[in-house]
Amino acid sequence: MDLLRIIEERLTGELNPKVKLVLETGRYLIDGGGKRLRPLLTALACGMCGGDPQRAIPLGVGLEYIHAASLLHDDVVDGASRRRGRTSANVIFGNGTAVLTGDYMYAKALHLFTTYGTVEMIRRVSEAVMEMAEAQVLELSKIGDLISEEEYFRIIDGKTAVLFGACMAVGGMAGGSTEEDKLHRIGLHLGRAFQLIDDLLDYAGDPEKTGKPVGNDLREGKATYPLLSVLDSLDREEVENLLKRIDPSQGSIEELRRKVIELGGDRRTRERAQQELGRALDLLRSFPRNSYRDELERIMEFVILREL
Ligand code: IPE
Ligand code: IPE
Ligand code: MG
Ligand code: MG
Ligand code: MG
Repeated sequence: MDLLRIIEERLTGELNPKVKLVLETGRYLIDGGGKRLRPLLTALACGMCGGDPQRAIPLGVGLEYIHAASLLHDDVVDGASRRRGRTSANVIFGNGTAVLTGDYMYAKALHLFTTYGTVEMIRRVSEAVMEMAEAQVLELSKIGDLISEEEYFRIIDGKTAVLFGACMAVGGMAGGSTEEDKLHRIGLHLGRAFQLIDDLLDYAGDPEKTGKPVGNDLREGKATYPLLSVLDSLDREEVENLLKRIDPSQGSIEELRRKVIELGGDRRTRERAQQELGRALDLLRSFPRNSYRDELERIMEFVILREL
């Protein structure tokens, strides 16, 4: 059974708005690819807990629509112009259409959950989406600031990790498990590792592979883990001035990006991500072993090693 293929078919099949421009915009993002980590985690968590993973696929698809909506909105909010290796939807279709198609996808996800899910699942998922919005506003309010590590983790937990938590919990519940809190914690640690690596790739990734340029976070005035981890070896005032600059030069961004890598910010970030992954794996291994648990382990290890 090829779970990924079923997920892909369902992702395209469920997206059926009546207005052509909404369909075009939604399809543009979905057809752009993506790793489909969230629906895979949902289906595999269901299988690990003894359920038929296929039963969780419409729920996983709903969670991928939530992710897709958050990307449509994120690129507007971040003023980004590349996503999944191509020009982002906000640039092609305009901010208004991108935001409203994102709204459509959030509601589509909710609709799928009313058909295939439970009220308890909807409670978890809606809590995750509320936290995502809050964390991204918190992130915006800290633009230009050298935040503390504690603030950094508060932001990434909300904007990214809680959705991974919801995927694991929803999948487990669909499989009949009552250990949804533990499953949520697995997703949370994994999601933290995932965002740490995203932030690392923003410094040291290959744009050909990630589909987005390097240096975006610095350009947007955001202090992420690679920078925070080597701050003691940098001139704080100089860094803060750069983060606060409205339109920093490409040269100054490149210079700081290279310096962070030279000082080992990428290595430290990977180590921190590895730590989170270890916590996720320890919790995962408290579940009885089966082929789905093994597959989850492989995906979790991929999160650390990924280049895309
Ligand atoms: C990108 O997520 C946004 C973050 C939460 C860092 P992914 O890296 O999962 O994006 P796709 O779906 O694979 O494109
Ligand atoms: C991703 O944060 C968070 C969400 C999309 C909710 P980023 O802003 O770092 O994501 P990318 O790097 O643009 O994919
Ligand atoms: Mg972004
Ligand atoms: Mg963002
Ligand atoms: Mg990023």
